[in-house]
Amino acid sequence: MSTNPLLHALKARLGARRLARLRTAKRRALGLLLGNDLIALAKLHGTDKWSTHWYAQHYARHFLPLRRQRVNLLEIGVGGYNDPHAGGMSLRMWKDYFRRGRIHGLDVYDKSPLEEARIRIFRGSQNDPDCLRRVAREIGRLDIVIDDGSHINAHVITSFDTLFPLLAEGGIYVIEDTQTSYWPEYGGSSTRFDGPHTLLGRIKSLVESVNYEEIIRPGVAPSHFDQHVVRLEFCHNMAFVYKGRNGEGSTVLEGNAWPADRATRRYDDVATPKDAACTAAR
Ligand SMILES: C[S@@+](CC[C@H](N)C(=O)[O-])C[C@H]1O[C@@H](n2cnc3c(N)ncnc32)[C@H](O)[C@@H]1O
Repeated sequence: MSTNPLLHALKARLGARRLARLRTAKRRALGLLLGNDLIALAKLHGTDKWSTHWYAQHYARHFLPLRRQRVNLLEIGVGGYNDPHAGGMSLRMWKDYFRRGRIHGLDVYDKSPLEEARIRIFRGSQNDPDCLRRVAREIGRLDIVIDDGSHINAHVITSFDTLFPLLAEGGIYVIEDTQTSYWPEYGGSSTRFDGPHTLLGRIKSLVESVNYEEIIRPGVAPSHFDQHVVRLEFCHNMAFVYKGRNGEGSTVLEGNAWPADRATRRYDDVATPKDAACTAAR
């Protein structure tokens, strides 16, 4: 309750509904003013992407080139859990940031009361590939996917394996709260880091996709991930996976095989002499 009696009387006169509408209008006006400052927008909308976590700074760097484009963004995890009226903070932040974008949410709980112009919310589980495919089909072109849902390793991997192939070239797939990759309570592990069953094990394996043209394995057909994962970035508790066309060609290999005319050439033959004098001052 307000301590200022005048303000309190004014609020009482306005009534809860009009007050809520005024607050929304104020938030919208501020959102317009803060437009390109993602950290300020995160604070304005109260998402934990800039409080408990420090993700907004990384998003700002990665999303800036897309800001003015008509992006279709899907965020898994709307927030507020089983309260249909709670959550939606990050969706509203994205709406203010991507002025021409269409923002979509997916949550296991019904979040339809949070829908508004340019914000659409689907209900379903991120662990259900059929549902994910239907959501992607309804959205159409998918430019950005953000996984901020259950953070259960198996769910995160299912969502990634289903949605990354449906992402547009030039798109970005982001996974938040990757720390659960280390937590057995979420299906992670603090002792085995590279297995395919932890989410970071899965995403780290994509380093071999980025560089698949340099791997000697004649006759092995490249996967969709090999052909389309062009860049990875890991920050504290989050990962960015960029989609594009991975086809620059190997520096030496031909069709993932060592060329016949270089078959006898080994590293020792081309390495610099071991006794080369160092020219730097001692
Ligand atoms: C941390 S909150 C999301 C916060 C929001 N993205 C933000 O930044 O403001 C996580 C949400 O994921 C939802 N969730 C949990 N399990 C899910 C699943 N299997 N599929 C989709 N959403 C799920 C929860 O209901 C909850 O609302």
